[in-house]
Amino acid sequence: MSAAVILGAQWGDEGKGKITDLLSEKADVVVRYQGGNNAGHTIVIGDQKFALSLIPSGVLYPTVTPVIGNGVVVDPRWFFEEKATLTKRGVDPSKVKISNNAHLIMPYHRKLDAVIERYLGSAMIGTTKRGIGPAYTDKFARVGIRVQDLFDEKIFMEKLTTSLKLKNKILMKVYNQLPLDIDEIADEYLGYADDLAPHVTDTSLLVYDAVRAGDNVLFEGGQGTLLDIDHGTYPFVTSSNPTAGGAPVGIGIGPTMIDRVIGVAKAYISRVGTGPFPTELHDEIGDKLIDIGGEYGVVTGRRRRCGWLDMVALRYSVRVNGLTDIALTKLDILSHFDTIKVATAYTAEGDRYTEFPRQQGVLYHCVPEYEELPGWNVDISGVTSYDDLPPNARSYIEYIEDHAGVPITTVSVGPGRRATLHR
Ligand code: IMP
Repeated sequence: MSAAVILGAQWGDEGKGKITDLLSEKADVVVRYQGGNNAGHTIVIGDQKFALSLIPSGVLYPTVTPVIGNGVVVDPRWFFEEKATLTKRGVDPSKVKISNNAHLIMPYHRKLDAVIERYLGSAMIGTTKRGIGPAYTDKFARVGIRVQDLFDEKIFMEKLTTSLKLKNKILMKVYNQLPLDIDEIADEYLGYADDLAPHVTDTSLLVYDAVRAGDNVLFEGGQGTLLDIDHGTYPFVTSSNPTAGGAPVGIGIGPTMIDRVIGVAKAYISRVGTGPFPTELHDEIGDKLIDIGGEYGVVTGRRRRCGWLDMVALRYSVRVNGLTDIALTKLDILSHFDTIKVATAYTAEGDRYTEFPRQQGVLYHCVPEYEELPGWNVDISGVTSYDDLPPNARSYIEYIEDHAGVPITTVSVGPGRRATLHR
């Protein structure tokens, strides 16, 4: 690894936290490039479980500099809470760096996220209600407030006044809510400045210098490819670009500095929130995947929707991210099934799709074409070498690899660090 992107190849929750953690062990710098505290990574170290949302998982290694890039939206209240939790558990978060250009999540963003979802009713996105979408909306409407504004009270107050005036009108007149108090927000946010100052820097320069010096730099995407604002199942997506193209923009380096893109794919598939999901299972097999796979959201605790692996979607992910390799996770969960299905194409209204359909409506009523592969029916969670996997498990991996067109270099067979096979 010199400069590698690691991202979710599906709808998020692929078990990226564990793979990122393994790579972080050898990394000097670990960078988040988009999203915010909507992401959730669970990392199991020995008997300790860490659930991180905003701070990059590299923070667990004293040798790593964790970086929150300009493309991330930062909720400072959350940052300090996560920092305090880490400190209490013996992890030192003092090295975390935050981009001066990152946008802030403000109290009105959180409030708007909740009321907009309520307003959308059955068309709701199912967001994490952490204010992510409204914060990015302000960024692109050019009325956002950035981390650096906290260090210039005059500018901060000017921007807050302009933004809050409109937000309060919207909250009161459209959503029938009480207005937010400017002094309360200003006191809270300006109060963060001193404690935030040691963390804030030009992270673009930091990362550029690190890559140029030959350091191992890992760029960590939140959410997943199919939740990408441009390439995902819009509008049931997050408001940023988790795909690999988002990395250079969200960090402030050129794409030529990145030499590896690892897609983390679960051996089956899941999604939270609403939106199309061709291989979703509404039967007892789906329930079994949820129960055995422990498919409940890290951030919201929501029950995830589950289904068989979708190769149409995975090939799409290889394409839009330029994946160089895949890390396959949660293979052990499939040990409980006699046969395993994989979707290889979709059909809808007489048309057959081997590529992700360009007309999204197709995804709602397409019928997946499945290939049925034999299961292995033995516990593989203690296996430590690829060659010791049952032949049917190896065939499953090789089948995916052949159909995805990129190598599977890592296979995860359990939540712990040791339950990982390298190829
Ligand atoms: P938002 O990112 O909170 O705006 O939510 C938009 C959509 O992305 C919703 O369907 C969320 O459930 C989904 N989402 C956001 N973050 C994650 C994640 O880390 N894993 C899986 N889904 C996520």
